Amino acid sequence: MSYDPLTPEQRELRDLVRTLAQERIAPRAAEIDASHEFPWDVVEVFREHDVFALLFDEAHGGAGTGTLLALTAIEEVSKVCATSGLILAVQELGSLGLKLAGTKEQKERYLPRLASGEWLAAYALSEAGAGSDAAAMRTRATRRGDAYVLDGQKRFITNAGVASLYTVFAKTDADADHAGISAFVVEADAPGFDVLRLEPKLGISGSTTGELAFDGVEVSAENRLGEEGEGFKLAMRILDRSRPGIAAQALGIAQGATDYALEYAKTRVTMGQPIGQHQLIAAKLADMDTKCEAARGLLYRFGQMADAGVDGPALTKASAQAKLYCSDVAMEVTTEAVQILGGYGYIKEYPVERMMRDAKITQIYEGTNEIQRLVIAREMLSETRSSTLASARP
Ligand code: CAA
Repeated sequence: MSYDPLTPEQRELRDLVRTLAQERIAPRAAEIDASHEFPWDVVEVFREHDVFALLFDEAHGGAGTGTLLALTAIEEVSKVCATSGLILAVQELGSLGLKLAGTKEQKERYLPRLASGEWLAAYALSEAGAGSDAAAMRTRATRRGDAYVLDGQKRFITNAGVASLYTVFAKTDADADHAGISAFVVEADAPGFDVLRLEPKLGISGSTTGELAFDGVEVSAENRLGEEGEGFKLAMRILDRSRPGIAAQALGIAQGATDYALEYAKTRVTMGQPIGQHQLIAAKLADMDTKCEAARGLLYRFGQMADAGVDGPALTKASAQAKLYCSDVAMEVTTEAVQILGGYGYIKEYPVERMMRDAKITQIYEGTNEIQRLVIAREMLSETRSSTLASARP
């Protein structure tokens, strides 16, 4: 049994997603990985069963069931297919700018289409020379009357070419550093917008990762999210809420690998007994399960905090801790799963090598784990609390 703080209603929805994942997505996972093709059929499954709605509030066509449940949905899907779990995580990432800073009109225009899954979304922050140092971006947005003209390129953008709506960050004031960045929503059919190329990758092969070009793309000022100069802070606030989606993906991968290795260890016999009875394998299984449970604790804690309306530094820290720990656990646990299966773990007939390849990116995207440690330490150092030492002083 895993830690499960869901209400009976939430559990029912989570179990529906679990069944969908096992019956409709798991049989496709190896093929999606091998074909390197975006799984539109999985998007169709999510649309048919209103899975995208779990990410949105009722006022905009969503289910209004909150963050914790949305995270468990991503976890369930990622247990069987990390590419498919990422479709949900990035729908959230690409929609959060509208949710957090959109006007009533912007929300009404776009959120229902994202909640139904008619449109997919993407988040365009990174550039060739601006990854961890997001503020170093060079894409410009120049005001011209009632519009802005966007020029530049974005790199490593998940959902490139499949998204209909991009949240794009660009410099409206080239001299102003962080305060010179603004955010926009850009529709994929805007003239001058193009996807230059898609990257071949180690894992999450069915997901597109691409380079975007903005060549004189005219965007109405009505499509600016928030005020001019507020884009960097919005980008950070979005990541605070989206990184746990990657944590959920990572936990799903880790749990999927643990479950598979456990079943294998029960049935694979060496030296006259199932390998799970050998102490060295039993110890690996125990560590894998314990790490998954600890990761789940951090992730669900974030979900509960978000659902309780917690904001600010406490949420930032909880988000970074969930992303950091779940993704490190995913890498450790999937590597051990491959080890438990031995030679079988290394070949593509079994799913654990795919899980190991898929796990790696969770330590890198939406902020490397080095950046997560930086964020956590910064929050710790700026926290004002009376330490034991201080309070013990006379
Ligand atoms: N919430 C609100 N405001 C925040 C904030 C937060 N979480 N974090 C920082 N800010 C504010 C600061 O308070 C500061 O405001 P003032 O100027 O008013 O003081 C301002 O933003 C600048 O902050 P910093 O000085 O901390 O900025 P920095 O340049 O040192 O950067 C960083 C901080 C944490 C390293 C940040 O650049 C970062 O998170 N980098 C990683 C970027 C990232 O995660 N990229 C992922 C791309 S998306 C992707 O991978 C997705 C995909 O396709 C799947």
